[in-house]
Amino acid sequence: MNVILGVGGGIAAYKAAELARALMERGARVQVALTAAAEEFIRPLTFAALTNRKVITDLFAAKSAEETLASSVEHIRVAQENEVLLVAPATADLLAKFAHGLAPDFLTTLYLAFTGKVILAPAMNTNMWNHPATRDNVGTLAARGNYILPPDEGLLACGTTGAGRLPDPARIADAVMMIGHPRKDLEGEVVVVSAGPTQEAIDPVRFISNRSSGKMGYALAAKAAARGARVMLVSGPVNLPEPYGVEVVPVRSAAEMRDAVMSHLEEATIIIKSAAVADYYVAKPSSQKIKKTAARMSIELDPTADILAEVGRKKGDRLLIGFAAETQNLVQEGRRKMETKNCDMVVANLVTREGTGFESDENEVTLVLRTGESIQVPRMSKLEVADKILDQALKLRLALYSRT
Ligand code: PMT
Repeated sequence: MNVILGVGGGIAAYKAAELARALMERGARVQVALTAAAEEFIRPLTFAALTNRKVITDLFAAKSAEETLASSVEHIRVAQENEVLLVAPATADLLAKFAHGLAPDFLTTLYLAFTGKVILAPAMNTNMWNHPATRDNVGTLAARGNYILPPDEGLLACGTTGAGRLPDPARIADAVMMIGHPRKDLEGEVVVVSAGPTQEAIDPVRFISNRSSGKMGYALAAKAAARGARVMLVSGPVNLPEPYGVEVVPVRSAAEMRDAVMSHLEEATIIIKSAAVADYYVAKPSSQKIKKTAARMSIELDPTADILAEVGRKKGDRLLIGFAAETQNLVQEGRRKMETKNCDMVVANLVTREGTGFESDENEVTLVLRTGESIQVPRMSKLEVADKILDQALKLRLALYSRT
């Protein structure tokens, strides 16, 4: 997807650098255009280095006659080459100019020439955001079909608290992928994804858990949503922004995760269990903080419910994708889990390989399929792995449960 990222002149402009990166990580080709005001906050070189492309700065900044001629049609070329125009941060001034068709510089001229999808992420002081003039302009732009990503609430750079913060760059990038994604092949699907670790309480302050960051599951949820599915993400405690357009169901323990997954089973058409669920929970957690003594202590553990196996027993013709975190015999273990838990696919990953598996941004997996094949997915970003898993899920759906 070709995205032009227009950056307005607000304090949140520094976040646009992270946004450019987040878009590229999701496979977008990014062309950055800075307004003159944005250049006061962040230099073009930052974006040029990140995107490896020349940054467009100003329509009328060219010096020679040739440059003036070339730049006077540049907004037309850029408008034709890109499918999405994302403006972040969209300042009150830019919103007003877009709403009223004023075109004093490159970005505003591009806006008028652009026929693709326009996504605006406003960020400003709360009073400016709430001002009737801004509300009217936002209303005009939304009615025109522009997508508005409303600002978050929180502490603003001006010291006040309220609505006006630019949302997390990863969330904006997910939204861009979702809105601009040309492939809506999961439309009509209801996907339940489990992600992250579980925490099994020992006492009110201690718990047993594991190293899962949730990145693999969040990537699956974001990609499924971008491809048109309705997505419910049952998430253990993680430190990740909620993917755009995804319903997040937060849970803590394996028991809570089981209840949340089972309560959404009826409506689900695809269930993906990428969570690292604890295999044991503390049989009798203490209601008070356990005091330290010199004596050795032991904790009794009971096995948790096997959620994947339970879903496997009740799934009917829903597509069930399990994960297998292994340290050896990847394909054999993946196939064993597929058979014993009645999965249609098991995503097997070697969790001892540096830079893949737990916590990393990348993964390298083998997809073990009910149809008999196993497909190697070489090392790539978890977002790309997520797309490969979803591609195979759709093929399996056709092969195993094609409904005419
Ligand atoms: O979260 P990240 O940092 O991005 O890391 C990703 C990951 C390594 C956690 C992920 O790729 C992964 O491998 N997830 C499965 C981890 C795991 O618990 O594997 P397992 O082999 O122990 O479990 C097999 C399957 O049974 C999994 O689908 C698991 O969700 C499920 N399970 C396990 C125990 C249990 N009580 N109930 C379950 O449903």
